[in-house]
Amino acid sequence: MSNYLITGGAGFIGSNLANHLLTNHKVVVIDDLSMGSITNLNNSDKLTFIHGSVTDYDLMDKVLTDYQFDYIYHLAAIASVADSVDRPLATHNVNFSSVLNLIESVKIKQKGIKRLVFASSAAVYGDEPTLPKKEESVIRPLTPYAVDKFAAEKYVLAYNNLYNVPMSAVRFFNVYGPNQNPSSPYSGVISLLVNQFEQHKSGNKADFNIFGDGEQTRDFVYVKDVLNALLLVGTSEQSKGEVYNVGTGRSTTLNTLINTISEILDVELPIIYKEPRIGDITDSLANIDKLKSLNFEAEFDIKAGLTVYLERVKETS
Ligand code: NAD
Ligand code: UD1
Repeated sequence: MSNYLITGGAGFIGSNLANHLLTNHKVVVIDDLSMGSITNLNNSDKLTFIHGSVTDYDLMDKVLTDYQFDYIYHLAAIASVADSVDRPLATHNVNFSSVLNLIESVKIKQKGIKRLVFASSAAVYGDEPTLPKKEESVIRPLTPYAVDKFAAEKYVLAYNNLYNVPMSAVRFFNVYGPNQNPSSPYSGVISLLVNQFEQHKSGNKADFNIFGDGEQTRDFVYVKDVLNALLLVGTSEQSKGEVYNVGTGRSTTLNTLINTISEILDVELPIIYKEPRIGDITDSLANIDKLKSLNFEAEFDIKAGLTVYLERVKETS
């Protein structure tokens, strides 16, 4: 049994990770519940939930003094790119300053740590059009969110190299699955779509706005594959001081995505085509060769991932 700290552990990816680990391990979750929910977490006597902010440095200091962790997954962030454009200072505190504070405290207080894994984003690649993205592709962060993720990622890897505190980073592409919160217009497109499909199915008036012609592509990766990647990166020796793309290596258009959900649910959702979003990138795709060198295989293609996800939605609604 190991001891884990998951910041942002009541959120989408964090709660999926926490629930998976709770079967065999002790997990401390810190979350301010700004986006996450306690109901995402399974009941377990191995879970300690701390309602607080990673920007509360006294709290973070206390947690890192009271517990010794084997693994830390730093997932807490304001994950909305649009929010970072509206509120660069506030989001910088969470998305960058909290990371530097955490790794500095870890360096001093967590002498036995086996790994800290930081959640970065494919947003760091920006709009440079060459695909697929390799870890060493051109980096062109275009928003406060992306700049903060890239800077934080670099700090994490520098701490690994300078101070010999084992740390790694991952760049998520478009993750989807259970517990993704569809409450904001900038929530992940699959969570929004599934929500609208469900509304339509239950007889409520619902449609969906596609920004652009729907031919834009994304590398959608199912959260179970993401957990697998997080555990591989967290435990492998060769991943120390390294950053990894986390995707499937396959891309899907928005139109195909919608048709696939329609097919699985046997429901047609009215679609409205709107002007493209300003700053939207047309295509995104990960090269995952580096992750594959840790024995990663994406188990879920888009159809398989959506099928399990929609099954879960049906069970819980
Ligand atoms: P999420 O919003 O569901 O999870 C983030 C969690 O952090 C939420 O539960 C939120 O309440 C919590 N949080 C926010 N500010 C906090 C603070 N100050 N203190 C403590 N907790 C705080 O998002 P997610 O999709 O699960 O993302 C997890 C991580 O992965 C984030 O760092 C995000 O930037 C990154 N990421 C996600 C995607 C994706 O496709 N979902 C893509 C790229 C990167
Ligand atoms: C996503 C992440 C971002 C991450 C980036 C990395 C989310 C919310 N955002 O951005 O954090 O850094 O991947 O690859 O997970 N769309 C519509 N209609 C809608 C909503 C979206 O047509 O109602 C379109 C968007 O214009 C875009 C596509 O769907 O073309 C995907 O959008 P979204 O899920 O917001 O993700 P990204 O912009 O790729």
